Amino acid sequence: MSKDDLLEKAIEVRSRAHAPYSEHPVGAALRTMSGKIYVGCNVENAAYPEGICAEASAIAAMVTGGDTQIAEIVVVGPGEVICTPCGGCRQKIREFAAPDIQIHAGNKDKILKSYSMESLLPDSFGPKNLG
Ligand code: THU
Repeated sequence: MSKDDLLEKAIEVRSRAHAPYSEHPVGAALRTMSGKIYVGCNVENAAYPEGICAEASAIAAMVTGGDTQIAEIVVVGPGEVICTPCGGCRQKIREFAAPDIQIHAGNKDKILKSYSMESLLPDSFGPKNLG
């Protein structure tokens, strides 16, 4: 599945976001190294900090599905402005991503910029730092 197919999936799942507080629906679609596709949307909560991001939702689905290696991920927001992964999501993606995988960020209908994992979270903290 190409990044354009992932874009389509991310846009589709964004329509199921539960974002009544921010009114900022986000969709994420990822392909794993094993070739599977997982999607997620943001799920907000009346207790605001309990909401979860679209990327976290897609990652939870991935791990639940038995996969742990992200090959590529697309994240899209609702407006004209690019929706880049927040800091917490960069760390969450990093747990399951090699430094050179591509993270594509987009707006309501297209990918606007692509990044490597390493460029989004340089010198990141990971399992090796626990040693
Ligand atoms: N959001 C995401 O789902 N992913 C991000 O990387 C950025 C922010 C969500 C969280 C919240 O529900 C809404 O966008 C506004 O911040």
